[in-house]
Amino acid sequence: MIAIAARCQEYWKKSIDVQLELPADEKLKKLFRNSNWAYFIDPRSHAESRYRGVEQVPMLRFSDAKEQQIAVDRILDVLLAALSDFSRADLTAIEWALNEVADNVNNHAQSTMGGFLQVTNFRNSKAVEFAVCDVGIGIPSSLRPTTKDNKRDHEWLDRAIREGVTRDSKVGQGNGLYGTWRITQKSQGQFHIMSGRGSLVSSQSSGLHVSETQVPFSGTLVIARIGYRAPIALSDALTFRGRQHEPTGYLDVKYEPDTQGNINFNLSIESSGFGSRAAGEPIRRKLSNLARLSSAGRVVVDLAGIPLVSSSYADEVFGKLFVELGPISFAKNFELRNVDPLVRDLIDRAIYQRMSGGPQSA
Ligand SMILES: Nc1ncnc2c1ncn2[C@@H]1O[C@H](COP(=O)(O)OP(=O)(O)OP(=O)(O)O)[C@@H](O)[C@H]1O
Ligand SMILES: [Mg+2]
Repeated sequence: MIAIAARCQEYWKKSIDVQLELPADEKLKKLFRNSNWAYFIDPRSHAESRYRGVEQVPMLRFSDAKEQQIAVDRILDVLLAALSDFSRADLTAIEWALNEVADNVNNHAQSTMGGFLQVTNFRNSKAVEFAVCDVGIGIPSSLRPTTKDNKRDHEWLDRAIREGVTRDSKVGQGNGLYGTWRITQKSQGQFHIMSGRGSLVSSQSSGLHVSETQVPFSGTLVIARIGYRAPIALSDALTFRGRQHEPTGYLDVKYEPDTQGNINFNLSIESSGFGSRAAGEPIRRKLSNLARLSSAGRVVVDLAGIPLVSSSYADEVFGKLFVELGPISFAKNFELRNVDPLVRDLIDRAIYQRMSGGPQSA
């Protein structure tokens, strides 16, 4: 669908109107709206998605490196609040691969529309899947001028994912697609590219297959599914020319520990509200993940500027976290700073009530 929606955007740009008739099925209709497909296919009739849940990051567009960074940061922010039981390396792997595939759009695609990006979180199978699509020249056309060999489109796709294959060694090193493919392999994931008349599919169970398609795809679609059931051996996946690459990323930059190893977490910036369980749930997961992933020090939750929280929010975040970890681990992992006396009272009460198996609903 992301590819169809991207194509429709191109039509709109060429002043060709597109009209979307939503599916009759209510669930599908909701999916079309939430995922932003409806908006990108027919922006005249459909507003942008307001979905803020944890099942997906709705389709979005980026047209340069800055917009790419904003998009990737937003995705990582959602994933940190959505996933549980993943390792730091898993998140770094997702960030690295996402950036590489999106960067290719900016560097090689010559797309008039920039690129489109969408992320789906498969919670039950513990995998994150991203799709990046552009309506540019395609991988075969980009690589064809590099040699006199007369290769078919699908053969070019097979070349593109090999280590060191690049259209121009002054621009790139040919690591992006190779590393992304390796990450999907090492994490029991899947990798899929469509470009020109080529299709490439790779998974651990069925191996690597390339084939020629009947209908050409003008542009490039890359879909990478990265599993996080077991911690990924990132240094193994990202070994280039025999040297291990160690990327730093979102977690290191946004939650950089201070000199004592503490991470600052500004609740008034992080939380979308303070009145509901729905606002509290992603915050609790994020706090729990940060505490688990940070090797030393505590997570310092700064409540400055928050005059009031609802009891359900206090319970959803602090009550549940306190019971989940137990008093000693909670005190070891978290410090609350700049707490208004009223808010302190509400948090205390939420914790006492939850400890005594009080009346809160789950
Ligand atoms: N979206 C795209 N549109 C057109 N061509 C692409 C696209 N993505 C990749 N390619 C082609 O595939 C080649 C290999 O891509 P890859 O990301 O592996 O290496 P690179 O971008 O050249 O170098 P690096 O990723 O190390 O900076 C590119 O050089 C380019 O020719
Ligand atoms: Mg690249």
